[in-house]
Amino acid sequence: MEDALFKRRILVAVTGGIAAYKAAELVRLLVKTGGEVRVAMTAGAQKFITPLTLQTLSQHPVATDTFDLQQEATISHIELADWAELFVVAPATANALAQLGQGLANDLFSTIALACRAPQLLAPAMNVNMWQHPATQANLALLVERGAFAVGPEAGDLACGWVGAGRMAEPSAILQACRALLGPRDLDGKKFLITAGPTHEALDPVRFLSNRSSGKMGFALARQALRRGAQVTLIAGPTELFAPGNVERVDVVTAEEMRKNALERAPLADAVIMAAAVGDYRAAKVAPQKIKKSDDRLAIELERNPDILAELGKKDFARRPLLVGFAAETEEVETRAARKLQEKHCDLIVANDVSQTDAGFGVDTNRVLLVDNERTTALPFGSKDEVAGGILDWVAAHLSTRL
Ligand code: C5P
Repeated sequence: MEDALFKRRILVAVTGGIAAYKAAELVRLLVKTGGEVRVAMTAGAQKFITPLTLQTLSQHPVATDTFDLQQEATISHIELADWAELFVVAPATANALAQLGQGLANDLFSTIALACRAPQLLAPAMNVNMWQHPATQANLALLVERGAFAVGPEAGDLACGWVGAGRMAEPSAILQACRALLGPRDLDGKKFLITAGPTHEALDPVRFLSNRSSGKMGFALARQALRRGAQVTLIAGPTELFAPGNVERVDVVTAEEMRKNALERAPLADAVIMAAAVGDYRAAKVAPQKIKKSDDRLAIELERNPDILAELGKKDFARRPLLVGFAAETEEVETRAARKLQEKHCDLIVANDVSQTDAGFGVDTNRVLLVDNERTTALPFGSKDEVAGGILDWVAAHLSTRL
């Protein structure tokens, strides 16, 4: 099969951080997969790696200066922005994110970025403290809300000597993200309802019962469904994550709020994916005042929360959406998932073994089994975005047979 990048026009902007040297490998991989690559570099980037290196690898002149008559005559910065089908910023420094967030056009890179309407993929790379600074986080959040995609950064040893998040994603991971962004729009116009994150069930005015779900899997599904052309409604329990601005996001706190919103919206959906870790129990009575410590033991009576997925599975829809549930298990994963598929009347259960440290709650990677009425399929281990892609392949295939 032809690679998703074959003959696609990819503009790689390299900004000035030590990870700029990894841009060479990225450009090499993009060219090797058959992509048409052009490179723009900031003045800072040219201190770390020479334009000649990237010119040789991309087989085209590198854009370095807006005011260079020679360069502008060959291909102007506006032509370059119009030419691109995908705009990749790798590495994206804290300064680059700030420029993009503010809409500055004070050098070639930021001017191209402002003029370019292609999807934007950012690969942030910087010192961990710069990465964690609220200004950087706010800039990235703003860019993602406006529709940009981000890959990485990863945690590890940083060139500055610190250890933490800030290392640019590996070129192979950026390549994968490019493939995903330029992949098929096979969910065009389809309506998706996705739930994500944990729920909080209050015990008293200051305490609640919850779980370790981060919401990352559900948010990855929302991002990927959107990229493939779907209209996405995301019902999110409490999380710090940000969603693209063109996702309809409904923030909820309790299972009951999630249920109300899900039941209201499910009849309009083509597919409902319940990735949320809904609390199974809530306090039978929420204490109106903070519970005081007195005895050595304290018993709190809990009552069952409604099972939203099971309720949807039983419902009489005029046109039933595809129902996808998740199963987080610590043992007998496949057997339990198959049982859940029958009990909750859904079309697919995505099962993961949450006892593994590199899959399930909180982490950025996942390893899942797709259990449907006919077979069990193991998806390859990967980032939650990659796993989301695999789940959506299943959904896309099953939606197309329903038409
Ligand atoms: O039964 P269990 O909680 O393992 O099932 C998990 C699946 O059911 C998930 O898709 C979750 O979103 C959904 N669920 C639900 N309502 C609940 C509990 C789980 O919709 N109260």
